[in-house]
Amino acid sequence: MSQIREIKDASNIVEVIGERIKLDVGGINFKACCPFHSEKTPSFFVNPSIQRYRCFGCGANGDVLDFLQNFEGVTFYEALKTLADRSGITLKEFQRTREDEEREKLLEILNLAKEYYHFLLTKHEVGQIGRDYLQDRDVSGESIKIFQLGFATNAWDSLLKYLHHKKKYPLELIEKTGLIIKGRSGGYYDRFRERLMFPLKNHRGQVVGFSGRLLSKSPKEAKYINSPETLLYHKSKMLYGYSELFREIKKKEQVVVVEGEFDMISSAQAHVNHVVAIKGSALTTEQVNLLSRVAKTIILSLDADEAGIKATERAIAIVKEKGIDLKVIDLKHLDFLAKEDQVKDPDELAREKPKAWRQAVESAVSVYEFLMNHALDIYDSLSADGKRQIINYLAPILETIDHAVEKEFYLQKLSVALNVKESLLKEDIAKFGQVKTGLGVKEESSVESDKKTFKSYQERNEEYLLFLLFSFPVAILQEKARALENFSFASPGFNQLIKQLLAFKGNFDLSRFALTLAEDLKKSLMDALLSPEYEQKLEKETLEKEWQASLLKVKKESLRAEIAKINEEITKLDSSLQRTEAEEQKLDELLSLIVSKQTEIKKLS
Ligand code: CTP
Ligand code: MN
Repeated sequence: MSQIREIKDASNIVEVIGERIKLDVGGINFKACCPFHSEKTPSFFVNPSIQRYRCFGCGANGDVLDFLQNFEGVTFYEALKTLADRSGITLKEFQRTREDEEREKLLEILNLAKEYYHFLLTKHEVGQIGRDYLQDRDVSGESIKIFQLGFATNAWDSLLKYLHHKKKYPLELIEKTGLIIKGRSGGYYDRFRERLMFPLKNHRGQVVGFSGRLLSKSPKEAKYINSPETLLYHKSKMLYGYSELFREIKKKEQVVVVEGEFDMISSAQAHVNHVVAIKGSALTTEQVNLLSRVAKTIILSLDADEAGIKATERAIAIVKEKGIDLKVIDLKHLDFLAKEDQVKDPDELAREKPKAWRQAVESAVSVYEFLMNHALDIYDSLSADGKRQIINYLAPILETIDHAVEKEFYLQKLSVALNVKESLLKEDIAKFGQVKTGLGVKEESSVESDKKTFKSYQERNEEYLLFLLFSFPVAILQEKARALENFSFASPGFNQLIKQLLAFKGNFDLSRFALTLAEDLKKSLMDALLSPEYEQKLEKETLEKEWQASLLKVKKESLRAEIAKINEEITKLDSSLQRTEAEEQKLDELLSLIVSKQTEIKKLS
């Protein structure tokens, strides 16, 4: 047995996928909202017997290794490695691509850097200013450990010396991690100096980059600097805290999204640990895609500045396509906080009043209510001018609400706040809501959805027949299949499938049978077994009835197709005026063939 086979056999696709997205039981299959395209109703199916997944919305399909590669964006080798580790199998030598090798080396370097910085912060005397700084900001020792915080000294080459001179990594390779920079004179120097270091991890927990916060109050330098885009680090996918806290998020099915590293850490310390930081205020499609795998509700808590509001507005469109509930923590309008206790960001609130932060999360409001309050804040709701501005601002936002009742709810609220008739307001909202805002734009699906192959009427019938066949108890499955022994299927591969099914020796078992099939046949079977159009559990009697009816339909349709073909030939022969004797004879044969096919059809009915 090849090692790939061994590793695949040791991994149950339902478990592997179930560890990453929420899978629901649906008949003999498991189903979920597809992680590869935007959808609100599940069309992603996983079949435990065949050990394959398939999405009927976007066409994504494959085995456990395909899933990992596509879901985690890793190479074949990495996916194999993940599965091997998971089942405690040691992966023997395997032909890795150069990119695989480079990625591994870069990960190694980044991990060493993390340990180096962490050591300086926690053990070395130069780290004292870092420790003092963290103590000032109430960051606990436990947080330092969980998030592996670190410290970069003020030297120009301290990390460089460690990685290059001590650990012998080539400079060109270290440069590719973004940790060192090549200067104008050709020499290299450390990117991060005299900063508090936050390792940035991908969703699998691998360090892919860093952000560093300035310790001194030097106005000349940026408060935060980050790794540049590299082979491994992609800013738009970054969710700080995700790999450490995603279990909490999955458990609660909701996630609090904050801006900064300290917001995240302070929130977690205040026991709101279903939290991630997006490092700035712009929530991206990629981040939402990642979060939608584990959460049904996103609670935004961005700074209440212009950038934060703009980002909140934009989030509506991004989140909408995913069918996720979007809420907002309105730090400016927390009625349980006194005016003088107003805070600027989650970090401040979570540190000073952890209980109030928990309360704030609990009392998150819908994004519409939040933006409505914001509009009422910035414009004067008493003047005509102000009312117009408020409506202009809110109309395109409220227009995006699909549910009539929900929309009505906000319109009512607004009409009270503005003291205008609701009917008038409705008119205006409809009129000014159409303005182009980009709020309603559909998000491009990451997978082409027109890849779906077209199936003829007969092929669809045959697929259903196959589904019914495999719904029978395994003990009688082969016996039932005998009815199809000499049948000629229109669907490619079905003849072969039935042949192999009838040839299967011993007690029938779907998983063992699937192993005997070529990949394309497995795919065909998968199509049939997982189709969401079919009812997944049929009563015994219904099944038998459906099977008989469907068998009849497929056989009849096949005969009709044959007749149509013969008819075509006849027309061809018929249209030639001068027929040879042989042609005359052929014509006769074809005509009697049609008669016999027609009798067969009659007999079937
Ligand atoms: N940020 C960044 N690069 C910058 C500025 C900000 O990556 N040049 C990110 C950081 O993750 C930062 C977040 O954006 O935490 C929010 O920025 P800001 O509100 O300016 O910082 P604070 O979170 O308030 O930072 P601190 O609490 O450390 O003062
Ligand atoms: Mn901030």
